[in-house]
Amino acid sequence: MLRRTALAAGLAGLTALLGAAPAAAQTEITVQHPLPTANSHYGAGAMAFKETLERLSNNRYRVTIQRNDNEREMIESVQIGTLDFTITSTGPVGNFVPEVRTVDVPFLFRDYAHARGALDSPIGQEILAKFQARGLVGVIWMENGFRHLTNSRREVNTPADIRGLKVRTMENQVHMRAFSTLGALPTPMAFSELIPALQQGTVDGQENPIPVIVANNINQVQRYLTLTGHVYSPALLIGSPALWGRLSAADRAIFLQAAQAGRDANRAKVTADEQSGVDELRRRGMTVTTSVDTAQFQTALAAAFTQYERELDGNLLRRLRDWK
Ligand code: PAF
Repeated sequence: MLRRTALAAGLAGLTALLGAAPAAAQTEITVQHPLPTANSHYGAGAMAFKETLERLSNNRYRVTIQRNDNEREMIESVQIGTLDFTITSTGPVGNFVPEVRTVDVPFLFRDYAHARGALDSPIGQEILAKFQARGLVGVIWMENGFRHLTNSRREVNTPADIRGLKVRTMENQVHMRAFSTLGALPTPMAFSELIPALQQGTVDGQENPIPVIVANNINQVQRYLTLTGHVYSPALLIGSPALWGRLSAADRAIFLQAAQAGRDANRAKVTADEQSGVDELRRRGMTVTTSVDTAQFQTALAAAFTQYERELDGNLLRRLRDWK
């Protein structure tokens, strides 16, 4: 929550009374994200945002970072103004800003350079501009990473191996359609419910980027990992309009600079963790399938792609896919 600290406000009043230069008021800002702050890619983004904002504002703003592993709940809090910022994957965001669903389409982005470039381009900015009408501020694109499949039942080498698996997905219609097209039983739930669901066998598998699998020890409840890279999972820094509307133009510029520093640190951490993560998961005992015939998966998803073209903004989809 944004609030001037009572002490700073009191001191400012006192110095004004005494005729000295007024002490700068201090405003507290809270950022929540769903992963452990130490050693995660969202934590790296949040820390760089905090350090940059505090430095550039000469500590007029102080940032508190908190963990909340229910992304939908964080977005709702930002929308009603009880939370200043969240870093969240796009998982549940399409339920608030439908245009975001376009970026959740499987195999839309070829690689990190394509995804980052397209989202930082005017096309990504166009999507961020849609947040305002939904009572949110889309500040900047961050990143969660390419998602891969894990499960406790069997090695997955081909799309046929996915048939019949109960797979936890995010609360995301686009992802759910992809898994049901492959013959799996998609089970949407918040990340906070995932580990118990895997432990109790309510679901057989889940899908997440390597840094998330490593940071949350998903290897303790899942034996098989297949590097499907079936979808790029963007993340976002989303702000509260209540806060954003109160910022001066100069302060908004500082917040944007801090957001850029956060984005860069977040992506650098994803890159570093991806490189070491697969070896780490093997070391922890996972059976890792690395050679995946991506074309086979794309063919198996043909019916889903037809539906996406029909239900989403086909033109936006093509512009994102063809971005160079
Ligand atoms: O699987 C999810 O819900 C998301 O990928 C996570 C782990 C919360 C990160 O945004």
